[in-house]
Amino acid sequence: MNITTLTTRFFELYGNPEEKPRCFFAPGRVNLIGEHTDYNGGFVLPCALQYGTYLLIRPSADQVIRLSSTNMAFSTEIPIAEITKKVGNQWVNYPLGIFNQFRELNISLTGFDMLYSGDIPNSAGLSSSASIEMATAYALTVMLNATELEMIDLVKLSQRAENEFIGVNCGIMDMFAVGMGKKDYAIFLNCNTLEYKRVSLVLNGFRLIIANTNKQRGLADSKYNERVAECQLAVTYLSLQTPISRLGELSFMQFYKMQDTIPDELIRRRARHVLSENQRVLNAVACLHKGDIGQFGALMNASHESLRDNYEVTGFELDTLVAAAQKINGVVGARMTGAGFGGCTVNLVRENTVELFIEQVGREYQEKTGFKADFYLAEVSDGVREITSSL
Ligand code: GLA
Repeated sequence: MNITTLTTRFFELYGNPEEKPRCFFAPGRVNLIGEHTDYNGGFVLPCALQYGTYLLIRPSADQVIRLSSTNMAFSTEIPIAEITKKVGNQWVNYPLGIFNQFRELNISLTGFDMLYSGDIPNSAGLSSSASIEMATAYALTVMLNATELEMIDLVKLSQRAENEFIGVNCGIMDMFAVGMGKKDYAIFLNCNTLEYKRVSLVLNGFRLIIANTNKQRGLADSKYNERVAECQLAVTYLSLQTPISRLGELSFMQFYKMQDTIPDELIRRRARHVLSENQRVLNAVACLHKGDIGQFGALMNASHESLRDNYEVTGFELDTLVAAAQKINGVVGARMTGAGFGGCTVNLVRENTVELFIEQVGREYQEKTGFKADFYLAEVSDGVREITSSL
């Protein structure tokens, strides 16, 4: 991202080049394993990416918030008194959700000129929305001098913004990874207690490749909320035997013994995914500690299988992309990442196989689905921050 070009655009939009904006960056994330476990109080293992959202921001002379983006045609100006209203289905609802959270915390708001620019593909399951939210939340904390807010508060308020303002009942993983990410480390997070450890991700001789199905995730939000509700139903059934409030409170063994308490076969499968996936995260972390990349990859493959068969959030495109990858000698693991229903896969690939991977998987995927896949070599990066250079 060229920040000088972005700054020029900022002045074209908002004028007054004597007053420089400040620049903030929040990354996207990729989840290595632990999918659809976060809202169940389970374990996840995401990391922050080199791609993300840049935000240039400057106080405005009036009580108006001006929002523009280099990625989206829509831009708007909203008086602070009117931020509580959603603007259709526009992207500006992500920053507005954050402004509302600050308002609810009684932090006094002022007007801002803001320009967003992202290099994460939209709707690819790499958390472009959490990245916009966290860039906004972090920038507002600095600009409004809200020093009482710590990073974990920003993570939580961004999740609330997504749940309450956007209406997606997502868990905390995305915001947490965006806020707490660290270069060359994955984040092993217990979503029940929010305790976390950073796990070194030195993948000697291997690379993480993200492959984008480029299939728009139609109905993804409603299907996502449907899965959340199905897990709650599983909790209701299981609670007849052992009172729990979230599935993650059970170990896989405990669940295994009591699974017949769930009369509905579909709900039982949903719970089986969550609890087996939770166990896979624990095993995956142990593999990283031991440097057992092969076994780590096998767990990724098993995760995909469970997301496909038990949780049913994959679909033809994701399954095709994963199957094409798993065929290749030199691919140790491949799975969908994020919410599913389209979006991306994450692949652990031997360094000397990267070119072959991109060529062969790209070709097979296009032949079978008609879509052209995109590939990104992931670099595990730091979380949200201010960028002070090249302004
Ligand atoms: C989306 C949500 C996350 C998480 C994943 C699935 O990315 O935003 O909270 O639930 O799906 O693991």
